[in-house]
Amino acid sequence: MAIEIEASILAADFARLGEQARQAEAAGVDALQVDVMDGRFVPNITFGAGVVRALRPLLALPLDVHLMIVEPERYLAEFAAAGADRLVVHQETCPHLHRVLQSIRELDVAVGVTLNPATPLSALEEVLEMVDLIQVMTVNPGFGGQAFIFSQLDKIRRLRRMLDDRGLAVPIAVDGGIDPETAPLVVAAGATVLVAGSSIYNQRASVVENVAALRASIQRPRATG
Ligand code: DX5
Repeated sequence: MAIEIEASILAADFARLGEQARQAEAAGVDALQVDVMDGRFVPNITFGAGVVRALRPLLALPLDVHLMIVEPERYLAEFAAAGADRLVVHQETCPHLHRVLQSIRELDVAVGVTLNPATPLSALEEVLEMVDLIQVMTVNPGFGGQAFIFSQLDKIRRLRRMLDDRGLAVPIAVDGGIDPETAPLVVAAGATVLVAGSSIYNQRASVVENVAALRASIQRPRATG
């Protein structure tokens, strides 16, 4: 399975969001992740469907909307109408997860679910066949630039085994602290979608250089984590 890189605009310059999104597209990322935060599920507030609507006409990239909000079911249709190609909900915010995933499917957008670091894989056992992607959080959600949580490497490996045992080719995404050091480790563990924010948008190098460094890091054979 090819490895995909998603640029998280959480780390971008919000005063130049459209330009920064286009820079990521020109740098060759495979999708853009829009981190939606409500200040309740996570201790930070970012943006709503209006930003997805504004970015949509600027990009050919798939827009992946990561809903770090309570009651996401209230906003699914709005984000789909704004141009989201995939909606990723947190299992922790969905007491009726099966129904929420059905609702996303009915909106004709891709279905994603994500787990916080402390949430066990067993929370997804009954819905593995309903999703197009499972995102393993490798930081506690809310902020970019946090340290990678290495204990999640084993979780990624166990999830890949769980999916393989059921013959499910569901891609595993990882989100949080993904950079040229951690990217090879998560790929070796079974991740094929890398969500990266601060390793793409930073003062150290350009977006093009940072995306290239991320790509190069997963080309080289490395020891597993
Ligand atoms: C966490 C966010 C971040 C973001 C990427 O709430 O979801 O993980 O996408 O952040 P970095 O790549 O800067 O850790």
